[in-house]
Amino acid sequence: MKIWITLLLLLAATTQIEATLENRTCKTCHPIIYQEYQNSMHSRSSIYRDSIHKSVWDIHPAKQKGKYSCAKCHTPSDHNLIEGKSKLVNNEVQLTEPISCQQCHMIKSIEEHTKSNKNILTTKPKTFFSADKALKGTKIEFKEESHFFGMLKGKSGSPYHDIDYSNEGYYNGDSCMGCHSHKQNDKGFAICDLEVKQEDSKESCISCHMSQVQGSLANQKESATHAFHGQNIRNSTSALLSKYIKLSLEKSTGGFNIKIKNEATHTLFPQPLRLAQLRVSIERDSKTIELKTESFARIIGTNGKPSMPWLADSIISDTSIKAHEIRKVKYDTVLQKEDTVIVEFGYYIVNPKVATKLGITQKSATKFIVLTKKRFSI
Ligand code: HEC
Ligand code: HEC
Ligand code: HEC
Ligand code: HEC
Ligand code: HEC
Repeated sequence: MKIWITLLLLLAATTQIEATLENRTCKTCHPIIYQEYQNSMHSRSSIYRDSIHKSVWDIHPAKQKGKYSCAKCHTPSDHNLIEGKSKLVNNEVQLTEPISCQQCHMIKSIEEHTKSNKNILTTKPKTFFSADKALKGTKIEFKEESHFFGMLKGKSGSPYHDIDYSNEGYYNGDSCMGCHSHKQNDKGFAICDLEVKQEDSKESCISCHMSQVQGSLANQKESATHAFHGQNIRNSTSALLSKYIKLSLEKSTGGFNIKIKNEATHTLFPQPLRLAQLRVSIERDSKTIELKTESFARIIGTNGKPSMPWLADSIISDTSIKAHEIRKVKYDTVLQKEDTVIVEFGYYIVNPKVATKLGITQKSATKFIVLTKKRFSI
């Protein structure tokens, strides 16, 4: 009897660990995707892993009230916190899987709201949504089939979970929109809005940000490629994305124009902290001539002055580049034969002026990251 109770207690203890760290199981069968995910901002979106998020949270009025209102998007997998059973503490979920694998894979639909959208999760246990064009519309339950009296064994699906390929949101990117669409402050002002314009673009959130890269999607199923899971614009992986920002040069009377074509279906860097820049220089007779730097940002505030996001009620200025926009920047330097024009388009994670105000000093946040670069020989 005693042994039974001990065994039962042990079993209960282990299932509890499994239940609190959801990614632990996924990791054993999807090691490549798990490794990528660990570099993504989805595994670092808590105040304990993202010091920028922390700097803003530390001065946010909600902190004084003791309510971590950011949880629904930044740490939805800390279920005890979401359900009000525990406070914000640096537990394993906050540290390693604030947005867990299954959190994303169980989003059934998105409920639209003016303040911010809401993710509606499926209640079916161990049923994950995914995308596969060849299997679109089907649902796969794990089964082991025997053929010819057991001489051939065929396997389909996963030995751990069912897969539902019929959810459109995993093909067109709607599953991202519960967290990424927009966010209003208490004044009803949109502090961030991706302003998605799908129009007739063939690309989606998924095809651009989760394009197929080398490596098998699961141990038990050899596939040449899998969907990229390391979303993080602090990485050099932006090579996957830089092809969607096209730079070109056209001569004009008295100078030239640089055109930036944004093929993304959303505003580039709409967040209040970001700053994008175009930097242009000319190589002439082994000298480098630096031309003006053009900045692109959406600056928000009150009474005509920039302010913290929770105080803002209007746009002070907005030079951010919108979905599908071609932005033309004029330069009044006349180009000469054999000039080389060097054009760089890039961004700061935190606008250096704002970084000083917030006391953010780490390099990854305050260095200029080049997204795309081109040389034009005249
Ligand atoms: C015991 C091994 C195992 C575990 C544990 C496991 N998976 Fe899987 N999973 C598989 C296999 C095998 C496939 C491929 C099935 C197929 O394509 O027929 C798969 C497929 C998937 C797919 C769909 C892939 C596609 O074809 O689009 C998703 C999504 C997924 N797993 C998510 C997860 C998540 C999230 C977890 C953790 C909660 C997890 N898996 C845990 C083995 C596992
Ligand atoms: C509706 C969902 C949602 C809510 C609620 C939310 N955020 Fe976010 N937050 C996001 C998303 C999505 C991003 C990433 C957007 C991007 O990179 O364009 C983000 C990014 C950030 C960033 C930039 C982080 C970085 O490393 O660059 C900060 C700072 C931030 N949020 C602060 C907060 C704070 C503070 C709260 C709570 C008071 C909060 N957010 C609530 C969705 C949300
Ligand atoms: C549960 C909410 C949630 C969902 C669903 C979600 N994201 Fe995120 N995502 C976030 C948050 C929060 C951040 C920012 C974390 C931070 O900076 O602290 C983020 C960061 C990112 C970033 C990196 C931005 C940066 O600052 O490096 C990209 C790219 C991204 N998400 C794309 C996607 C795509 C594509 C999808 C859909 C497949 C998606 N996300 C689904 C919440 C979510
Ligand atoms: C045609 C390709 C394309 C499509 C479609 C696309 N994006 Fe992007 N996205 C980009 C590029 C390019 C960038 C800037 C590259 C970078 O930041 O490294 C970007 C940046 C982002 C960022 C980071 C912004 C920041 O300041 O932190 C987020 C978050 C994001 N996209 C989410 C989405 C979501 C959600 C969708 C679907 C509605 C989507 N993207 C659709 C190309 C695309
Ligand atoms: C931000 C949301 C998000 C997170 C977090 C996330 N996934 Fe995914 N995952 C998706 C979407 C959307 C797809 C569909 C992309 C496609 O197949 O084109 C996908 C595809 C997959 C696939 C199929 C790959 C393929 O090439 O078809 C597997 C397997 C998978 N995910 C496992 C995982 C595992 C394991 C984790 C955690 C380590 C995880 N996912 C975390 C959104 C997410």
